[in-house]
Amino acid sequence: MSRARESEPRRRGLERILSKLGVCSRSEARRLIQEGRVKVNRVVIVDPEAWFDPERDEIQVDGRAVRAAEKLYYALHKPRGYITSRTDPNERLTVYALIESIGAWVVPVGRLDLDTSGLLLFTNDTQFADLVSSPASHVEKTYRVECSPRLDDAALQRLARGVELADGPTRPARVAEHTHRGPVSRFEITITEGRNRQVRRMVKEVGAKVEKLARIAIGPVQLGDLAAGTVRPLTGAEVRALIAAGQRAASTQRRPAT
Ligand code: URA
Repeated sequence: MSRARESEPRRRGLERILSKLGVCSRSEARRLIQEGRVKVNRVVIVDPEAWFDPERDEIQVDGRAVRAAEKLYYALHKPRGYITSRTDPNERLTVYALIESIGAWVVPVGRLDLDTSGLLLFTNDTQFADLVSSPASHVEKTYRVECSPRLDDAALQRLARGVELADGPTRPARVAEHTHRGPVSRFEITITEGRNRQVRRMVKEVGAKVEKLARIAIGPVQLGDLAAGTVRPLTGAEVRALIAAGQRAASTQRRPAT
């Protein structure tokens, strides 16, 4: 790192500043800047990469001063049939239709497939979102799975040990609460990655098809009895515990092998 940057750690690109302050996403910030709607120290800046110091420079969007927004953290019980995206060219329902009551710019922490229900977090704290959703930070995510045909013990053990997917082997998982009825197996699986369609692909790899999938916990935060389609704010204790879980996992990874 250069000396200039070391002595000015708060300086960063304008696009990034707007997203870190919780004003909007980086792509929206880039658009606003390029449209000439952002002023710094009363001068229009059209370069999204131009460096400023959010604590010293006076930033305005559409003539209004921008300050660090209060950090917001919410849990949504996403029903099946909603996509985790702001807009959809095919006009399907999006999770944003369910979080209007939050009334502020927030982003989903990771994503759930159209046909997956359950716990989806939202925040305007992009660092928190990265920490919790990054496959590298290994925050545990627990899913309730229904699949068919029925899985035998060997298949469940393979899921727990890790299976080979097109994008590499999965990390060890915990499989619990296994029951079956007719051709259907029900169980809970806790994974620490969160790759695209990971649970569905893992189940396919051991010879079955997911019929129902619901995320019931992210780290220490439980879906509990939150009604489908509704949101609730996370408690301070939940936010702190999630951050600690992400940091713990990241520091375990950095520790050299003995
Ligand atoms: N795994 C999946 O297959 N889908 C999800 O939505 C989440 C995890």
